[in-house]
Amino acid sequence: MASFMKQLSLVLSFIALALAGCAVYQNTQTAMKDQLKVTPTWLDRTIKSTNLLSLGLGKPSGGKLSDEACIFSAVKEVVDAAIDAEARMGASLIRLFFHDCFVDGCDAGLLLNDTANFTGEQTAGNNNSVRGFGVIEQAKQNAITKCPDTPVSCADILSIAARDSFEKFTGETYTVTLGRLDARTANSTGANTQLVGPSEIASQSAKFAAKGFNETEMGALLGSHTIGFARCPLLCVSAFINPARVSTLNCNCSGTVNTTGLVGLDPTPTTWDQRYFSDVADGQGLLFSDNELITGNTTSAAVHRYRDAMDAFLSDFAAAMVKMSNLPPSPGVALESHVCSEVNANTVASM
Ligand code: HEM
Repeated sequence: MASFMKQLSLVLSFIALALAGCAVYQNTQTAMKDQLKVTPTWLDRTIKSTNLLSLGLGKPSGGKLSDEACIFSAVKEVVDAAIDAEARMGASLIRLFFHDCFVDGCDAGLLLNDTANFTGEQTAGNNNSVRGFGVIEQAKQNAITKCPDTPVSCADILSIAARDSFEKFTGETYTVTLGRLDARTANSTGANTQLVGPSEIASQSAKFAAKGFNETEMGALLGSHTIGFARCPLLCVSAFINPARVSTLNCNCSGTVNTTGLVGLDPTPTTWDQRYFSDVADGQGLLFSDNELITGNTTSAAVHRYRDAMDAFLSDFAAAMVKMSNLPPSPGVALESHVCSEVNANTVASM
């Protein structure tokens, strides 16, 4: 009897052991399955560079996560390809965003083409060389194709495209929230008065202050002149060029100024580096307006700070771009355009 009981308890122990083994196996499988639910790389990057709260993470999303992630990836795909094809395009997209947001807020008013009875912002003097419209249009169409259930404004596309350009050059990113509305009109006069022409430091600072930026933020933003180009016809006009750079200028400015050449805003125009700030600190900034930065105490301190610390440059620039992307549109804009360049039935006469 004693030996029977011993055998029974041995059998029961085996059964208990087997059951425990099964449970451990099942738990491990579940855990592995969970681990295997990895986020695709593109989505992971998008999530990192996006306001998680705006995506509704941690609460029922009602499909919002996939909707917004879809938009971000559709724009990024087009912007990355455009910059791969032509590095300068990244610079052009950042400038396009700046020229949109500084005139009556980020409302995509700059994208509206002129028609017989509508004069938009593109033909204003300060805008005559902005470029990248085709890329924004393509990004919008890609978003419509890939994310048909998620409308996105052209103003949002501009903001995302500028951020993605920054990311492509620097490997760093910042948050872009969505929800901007597109303009029903454009402000041609505003493009000439609210944007900054070649002017002295006090006037430059005043224009940035009017948009809520202090002089340090202005210095950081001007740091985007570390990439991109200026056109010879502009540089041949003395008001635009730093007098110290006239002799170095590789433009044919004699006789006609219709020369088509381009000059890097710094000597490394396709690399996001600190060369712009070291040149400005040495009095060798290309543009008159760049050189003006060393004439003010605060702006000069910013130039030296960013020359010496890439981290500070990148984080201050990113913060200022977020601030710019939140410049509110004028009252009265509330239209989402299907085609970003198109003046449509809802568009009202330009101001
Ligand atoms: C005082 C303010 C500013 C002045 C006077 C100024 C002036 C200029 C000028 C004259 C050009 C060359 C345009 C041409 O060739 O026709 C240029 C290019 C550029 N600007 Fe500025 N800018 C200012 C601020 C900014 C800001 C705040 C940003 C961006 C945040 C920016 C980004 C750029 C970029 C990236 C380019 C090169 C574009 C390309 O290669 O297509 N600029 N800027």
